[in-house]
Amino acid sequence: MKRGVLFTRFLRHPAQVGALCPSSRSLCRTIVSEIGVERAGLVVELGPGTGVITREIVHRLPEAGRLLAIELDAALCAHLLEMFPDVDICHDSASRLGEILAEKRVGAVDAVVSGLPWAVFPESLQREILNEVSGNLVPGGWFATFAYLQGLMLPAGIRFRRLLNETFSEVVTSRVVWRNVPPAFVYRCRK
Ligand SMILES: C[S@@+](CC[C@H](N)C(=O)[O-])C[C@H]1O[C@@H](n2cnc3c(N)ncnc32)[C@H](O)[C@@H]1O
Repeated sequence: MKRGVLFTRFLRHPAQVGALCPSSRSLCRTIVSEIGVERAGLVVELGPGTGVITREIVHRLPEAGRLLAIELDAALCAHLLEMFPDVDICHDSASRLGEILAEKRVGAVDAVVSGLPWAVFPESLQREILNEVSGNLVPGGWFATFAYLQGLMLPAGIRFRRLLNETFSEVVTSRVVWRNVPPAFVYRCRK
């Protein structure tokens, strides 16, 4: 994919894209590790953007595993379709996860990976999407998402952590991934 695509989309829709550059390889590897992607029948990715995390998921999925990626930006969806012909790319909102799964007649999800820009979302949308995620995961299924280190001290970041604790019974924090701009870490959550 052409460099700078995410930057261009950010200029058009800053409150939807929420980041100037894609996640680093280190962060992408951290977010897809320790959540059972290697044994999954169905993985859902929310907000794949330019596909940097998508690539890592595809790399780890078993042969019979399926990836459904839900992206709100039409231009990014077109890029993703070109890059990942075997991935089910869905131009839609993560807040419709349950309906999308029903429309596609697929059951519960083994793991959900998110690249969504939670910090720019209002609390109502954060709650809505987290409820969709938790309601559609198999028991014991993992939800992984990243957060920027500086966000830990900001009200939006503190509120998001509280929402994760309310929604999931287990919330584990990864080591800090310093090789990312800005430094980030991963939340791994289970019902
Ligand atoms: C920060 S980018 C993440 C890109 C990539 N996953 C990464 O980590 O570099 C966030 C992406 O989430 C998408 N997005 C925002 N709101 C969304 C929603 N409600 N449903 C699906 N995708 C959404 C944006 O269009 C954007 O592509």
